[in-house]
Amino acid sequence: MPPPETLTITQPDDWHLHLRDGEMLRRVLPWTCRQFGRAIVMPNLANPVVASADAVRYRNEILDAIPRGVDFQPLMTLYLTENTDPDDVRTAFEEHIAVAVKLYPAGATTLSDAGVRDLGKIYPVLEVLAETGMPLLVHGEVVDPDVDIFDREAVFIDRKLIPIRERFPELRIVLEHVTTRDGIAWVRDCERHTAATITPHHLVINRNAMFKGGLRPHYYCLPVAKREAHRLALREAATSGDPRFFLGTDSAPHPDSAKESACGCAGIFNAPNAMAVVAQVFEEEKALDRLEKFTSLNGPAFYRLPVNAARLTLQRHETPAPPPGKIDTAKGSLTVFDPGAPLYWSIEGGFPGR
Ligand code: NCD
Ligand code: ZN
Repeated sequence: MPPPETLTITQPDDWHLHLRDGEMLRRVLPWTCRQFGRAIVMPNLANPVVASADAVRYRNEILDAIPRGVDFQPLMTLYLTENTDPDDVRTAFEEHIAVAVKLYPAGATTLSDAGVRDLGKIYPVLEVLAETGMPLLVHGEVVDPDVDIFDREAVFIDRKLIPIRERFPELRIVLEHVTTRDGIAWVRDCERHTAATITPHHLVINRNAMFKGGLRPHYYCLPVAKREAHRLALREAATSGDPRFFLGTDSAPHPDSAKESACGCAGIFNAPNAMAVVAQVFEEEKALDRLEKFTSLNGPAFYRLPVNAARLTLQRHETPAPPPGKIDTAKGSLTVFDPGAPLYWSIEGGFPGR
């Protein structure tokens, strides 16, 4: 059967997003608002969002940047440090200031220096999370330089996540931007309270993309893309309909000058074409009937939130979209994720160039 020309689904949410602040926030946010009703906003700003007062301030800055007439709800997170006050976390959750707490192992990724070195120090916070049901969002990579970068997620699961899961059986955990079949298997092994976000780019590229014909900084993100077998495991999980897997774009804008450098930043900016890329993947996997689960239903169910009332229509075109270009920002150009293969989908109203 040929694919449908349009597909209308419950409006999606983005369960893992970097919006930055200032001018960059205002440049990138409209792309997200056109597709997603809500987004889990990551707290790794230059001045990280560590306390509920920071989350209130940052939320107001985001609300101010939403294009007029657009309905979009930022869902805030707190950046866990070894000094995080468990009472402040409880207040943030009970007063609906933040919906989750993000664990960055110190040194694991962009702006993670204030993160956690010794997990034992955050046990009092984890107790509050387990008691209240507030999810712990985990950047699941060890930082030990002796561990090969392609093994850091699998080793983190063995050394850190399995013990945490055992010690806090009621803790609700999201393994963010899962990149390995080991991660998928771990989520499935946990009987309950466990989920994972999957990014559009990890469904499309494997680690070869970073080295195709030369060094390709715009395919470098953390966790780094893995071998093909892992990408296939992610595609299977995302398209399976399993409620434990949902979309988190991990759209992470860095100006080209910071990416195309002798020491380039990690992060892929995919907000403009996130839904088009995901729809393309689901079409290829003959799973368009399960797209809505992955993008719009599974996430709210895990976060115990209602699904969006609005709907989003995707259009399937006869001809592919032109390759994505660059966006101008005050810090210079910003490159949009290029999936490297034709994209036949767009959202209704289309993207520039469509
Ligand atoms: C993210 C960023 O730039 O903030 N980078 C990335 O490669 N994904 C941080 C993160 O989510 O690890
Ligand atoms: Zn991220």
